Amino acid sequence: MNLSTTIAGVQFPGCIMNAAGARCVTQAELEALGRSRACAIVTKSMTLEPRQGNPEPRYYGFPSGSINSMGLPNLGYRAYAKLIPELKRFGKPVIASVAGLCEADFISIATVINESQPDLVEVNLSCPNIPGKPQIGYDAEASERLLARVRKVLTVPMGVKLPPYFDPVHQEQMVPVLERTGVQFLSLINSVGNGLVVDPVSETVVIKPKGGFGGLGGPLIKPVALANVRAFWKLFGGRLPIIGTGGVVTGTDIFEHLLCGASAVQIGTVLVDEGLAAFDRLEQELAAVLEAKGYGSVEACRGKLKEL
Ligand code: SIN
Repeated sequence: MNLSTTIAGVQFPGCIMNAAGARCVTQAELEALGRSRACAIVTKSMTLEPRQGNPEPRYYGFPSGSINSMGLPNLGYRAYAKLIPELKRFGKPVIASVAGLCEADFISIATVINESQPDLVEVNLSCPNIPGKPQIGYDAEASERLLARVRKVLTVPMGVKLPPYFDPVHQEQMVPVLERTGVQFLSLINSVGNGLVVDPVSETVVIKPKGGFGGLGGPLIKPVALANVRAFWKLFGGRLPIIGTGGVVTGTDIFEHLLCGASAVQIGTVLVDEGLAAFDRLEQELAAVLEAKGYGSVEACRGKLKEL
């Protein structure tokens, strides 16, 4: 079974990688991803300065998903700039996830990170967890200004991680922005921001930051993720590679993302729950699903969702 894929001209040995945020902050975690069956190493979204992130508890798993308000804990871009050339020894693509607390941060980080030549840069316009900082991906003008500036300083392919959109008009609004700024791949979607989980026993929220509000992930967001993958796949006529993120727990979930148009998937909640063994299990399950369905590769079923 051929599970390899290509995104923005970069070849991946498989189609399952970590989502920025899940087990990818420290050097040890990134190297463990390198040794695992993950088809790429995606760094935690890096900011200008190292960050401890939001106060704990800031992650909570429950049967249908997870809620987090991590607040971008990371080593700061200088540390990742040093690590990236070393991570390339694992022989799989390295994706640098870039965030910032203001537009200028993104440009400074991208300029230096580009020198370490990650295979791809994923610009994170969608973290919902920084108090007082709205998700940039919900502001088309700000997104365009920022992406145009980042594009100018990069020589490696640039993609963007977008928040979930809930109305087609917002997806349509982003299309010319992504075209004009030369975006070469999309990661869809970040967590569904500003959800709230309540513990009825203790009568409390379950995470500390932002009064309990945080980004939702896992199975409960799969339909939202699939809808965004499908909508952007159709809007771009299948020409823009998409990494589907949201609700992947089984090989069948990956198959659904591929049918909607994804070229690969990222995993977050299941990777936190299950550890690196999730990559082996998911790869085997996906291969079995594709074989049972008569597809010989990821490419063969990509975008093949039928409408009624
Ligand atoms: C976080 O660190 O708060 C999560 C990252 C993100 O949602 O982009």
